[in-house]
Amino acid sequence: MNRNTMRFALFGNPLGHSLSPLMHGAAFREMGLDASYRAIRVENVREIPAEMERLDITGASITIPHKTGIMPYLDTISVSAERIGAINTVTRENDRLRGDNTDWAGLIHALKEKIDIAGKRVVVLGAGGAARAAVYGILHERGIPVIVNRTVDTGQQLAREFECDFVPLKGIGTISADCLINTTPVGMFPDMESSPVPREVLPHFDCVMDIVYNPLETRFLKDAAAAGCGVISGIAMFVHQGAEQIRIWIDLEPPTELMEQVVLEKLRNETN
Ligand code: ATR
Repeated sequence: MNRNTMRFALFGNPLGHSLSPLMHGAAFREMGLDASYRAIRVENVREIPAEMERLDITGASITIPHKTGIMPYLDTISVSAERIGAINTVTRENDRLRGDNTDWAGLIHALKEKIDIAGKRVVVLGAGGAARAAVYGILHERGIPVIVNRTVDTGQQLAREFECDFVPLKGIGTISADCLINTTPVGMFPDMESSPVPREVLPHFDCVMDIVYNPLETRFLKDAAAAGCGVISGIAMFVHQGAEQIRIWIDLEPPTELMEQVVLEKLRNETN
């Protein structure tokens, strides 16, 4: 690293086995950029703007638990991030900080590889930040989101805010739709045998997507494939949210295929 090296970072806590440094590092290398990307654990969200300035960081990925808490520390926030209520991307330009959300665009990119969203009913399982990004994206593409959540109050509140339908998780057997997206953490390593829904309901959906990508094939996706549904793994969303961050930070086209390849390789090695 020298004075001209562009610096990027991931801020979160815990950082666990985040794949972002591997993915962004590979992208920058392939693009021939003099750029570094490192993971920095911060307990207090207030440390993020200070660290960005101290380390001269141009762009940052923000992850759990700081995606909402960072908002008051930013000078500007994109319309989509404001509506979703969460930031996963911060850009520092002339000592001003801008917040964006690329999760929704990543999810939509992944979904569009399988379905044309306009006019389609898409069930969103969950009511947290990831669900908000999904609902925002589906509405942006003129699809029809339906929220399904375990806690009725939280689900109803989100449905009211985005003016869409709500069905309690217990009633999921009563609905059918073009697509079902899991935005809950159920099925994520090490809880690999759990699925957010009973497998009997899966034939009611043409296409099923999981935002969980570790393991690559969750119990939910295995059940969906066995039920004959089209399946979309969470890896496509992860790669495209990261690619969109690079476009925002430096306005260059990232090598998405290579990014997917390095992440897939790492996850496959971890499974074996
Ligand atoms: P994020 O911001 O990453 O989306 P979150 O805000 O913690 O995460 O939201 C997690 C979502 O997953 C919530 O909607 C939660 O449902 P509740 O509102 O009922 O808590 C859902 N969730 C988590 N664990 C779940 C489980 N075991 N079964 C069903 N839903 C679950």
